[in-house]
Amino acid sequence: MRIAATADLHVFSPRYGAIQEQLAQVRDQADLLVLAGDLTNYGKPEEMEQLLNSLVRLRVPIVAVLGNHDYESCAEAALMHMLTDERIKLLDGTAYERDGVGFAGTKGFPGGFGRGALTAFGEPAVKAFVQAAIDEAVKLERAMSQLRSKKRIVVLHYAPVADTAQGESPEIFPYLGSSRLAEVVDRHGADMILHGHAHHGSSDGKTTAGIPVHNVALPVLQAQQPASVFRTFEL
Ligand SMILES: [Fe+2]
Ligand SMILES: [Fe+2]
Repeated sequence: MRIAATADLHVFSPRYGAIQEQLAQVRDQADLLVLAGDLTNYGKPEEMEQLLNSLVRLRVPIVAVLGNHDYESCAEAALMHMLTDERIKLLDGTAYERDGVGFAGTKGFPGGFGRGALTAFGEPAVKAFVQAAIDEAVKLERAMSQLRSKKRIVVLHYAPVADTAQGESPEIFPYLGSSRLAEVVDRHGADMILHGHAHHGSSDGKTTAGIPVHNVALPVLQAQQPASVFRTFEL
């Protein structure tokens, strides 16, 4: 299976017009498209409408997770419905299998990496924040335990490792992802993890167990030579 992957399209940002034309090439170059969150800029249904208008023309199966931007207007439930109405497989602690390849996905959450991960101690607000990160890891655990296929891809919005955040300011690392997500994937095993969110991060990294991690945030893809709006993987 040829998988095209991208993230952080942030539809309605001024650059989307040009992206749309290049995205049309997915149709010839891949059997499936993965969208790793931040589909919209402000989480508005009209932004999703614009994106869906171009996605339906691709005529390839699409697997997606939402990102933090898609939650900005508290319309995430409406956005999820819009995606599923167009038969886009929205992963939110759920799994999907197609042609022998399994996809498990969830948005993820910030919280930091390794020894720098924030722990549930002290104020209720800190505990609630950490709990949100744990909840996303639990959702990923649930999604992965549903997979029966040998080939498996994990789709997240937030980074599961610090490797692919490299390039961003160290000050914001804890807001770019959570290693709690990588721990789950290492326990279950996967062929690769795809994510976005770290716009100025690095394209490739690995979990502790050696599972490849790829940051497919649009600005990362555009910084490559040659610049692209999606990256393809063969599995
Ligand atoms: Fe983004
Ligand atoms: Fe994001």
